[in-house]
Amino acid sequence: MTASAVTFDPEHALPNAFYRDPVVHAAEMTGIWHGDWAFVTTEDAVAAPGDQLPVIVGDQPVLLLRNQEGELRALSNLCAHRGTLLLERPAKAKRIQCPYHAWTYNDSGRLLAAPFTSKDDVDKAEHCLPEYLVESWHGLVFVSLNPDVEPLAERFAAVEPHAVAYGIDRMDHWSDQQETQVWDCNWKLAIINAMESYHLFQVHPKTLEPYSPTRDAYYVAGSARATATGGRVEGADDYLLISLPPNFVGAFNSGGFFWQAVHPMGTHRCAVRTGGGYVSPGGSRTGGRLSRWIRRTASSAAGYSLPDFLPEDKAICERGQRGATGDFSPGRLVPAERVVADFGHYLNWRLNGVEPPTVHREASP
Ligand code: FES
Ligand SMILES: [Fe+2]
Repeated sequence: MTASAVTFDPEHALPNAFYRDPVVHAAEMTGIWHGDWAFVTTEDAVAAPGDQLPVIVGDQPVLLLRNQEGELRALSNLCAHRGTLLLERPAKAKRIQCPYHAWTYNDSGRLLAAPFTSKDDVDKAEHCLPEYLVESWHGLVFVSLNPDVEPLAERFAAVEPHAVAYGIDRMDHWSDQQETQVWDCNWKLAIINAMESYHLFQVHPKTLEPYSPTRDAYYVAGSARATATGGRVEGADDYLLISLPPNFVGAFNSGGFFWQAVHPMGTHRCAVRTGGGYVSPGGSRTGGRLSRWIRRTASSAAGYSLPDFLPEDKAICERGQRGATGDFSPGRLVPAERVVADFGHYLNWRLNGVEPPTVHREASP
């Protein structure tokens, strides 16, 4: 990686090279996907002992599971024999058995059996599945391949009181309603778009702007590590948006929430996963449009459908990617895009080692 390949000004838009350059992508794999936390799912996806779920962190296959003691664990999802992908879909089991030659591991990744070998053929202690850090933050599960990463509580401290006040601990997460789409754009176009509310009037004139007007969006608190923004909603409580770099954005209102998580698939493609839930019984159900959508889709006999604003976001992000073949002089971010600058500082921190500015707070209306 040359320093100049990833040099940029976080207070301006990202140069287009960030959306197409394999050098930038390689730097992100090291500094972000293999060096930082990444959101993988919600805790209910591995609710009971024995629940196993394959996930991807950057390009590393990871096996998320809940062990017999009830703890979350993240192991390599690659067999320690010849590297075969162990699980391709969710499972429920105490052990993990490779589909190739049936090497079998326990839920700590310890090798228990290697068929047709004698005691001296395979040193079991040397063939364990590597273990990674996993933490749940209010039901949202994050994995890090870097053992020296900072604790999640520290990472999200600036947004925590706002998320807690909004009832994040009362949310029922519905992992069975997660959906994944492939978008033909770099992952950063998708996550930046999910973070900022500046585009609502132009990209979502019918689907979002009438309910949550651009002019009534505001900044709450944030830094490169995490940002909370909010906005007024017609006829309901304000919404709260939490942006947790690199790959999670969640929108809460008093009745429910909706989230998007983005995962890279090379320089020109990404997977956009959506999910949600709503406030448990006993909590307020006076939510607005998002919770109405969540309840409508959850109760619909036709099953799950994605929110109507998502195709509009996909279209504008893919348009951004089509333009990223060319170069431009990156424009100044406007005050309504402060969260985008926060993300720029995140990239500068992870890719260039520049310590980000301290937490900024604004009085919400
Ligand atoms: S590759 Fe897994 S047992 Fe051989
Ligand atoms: Fe949007």
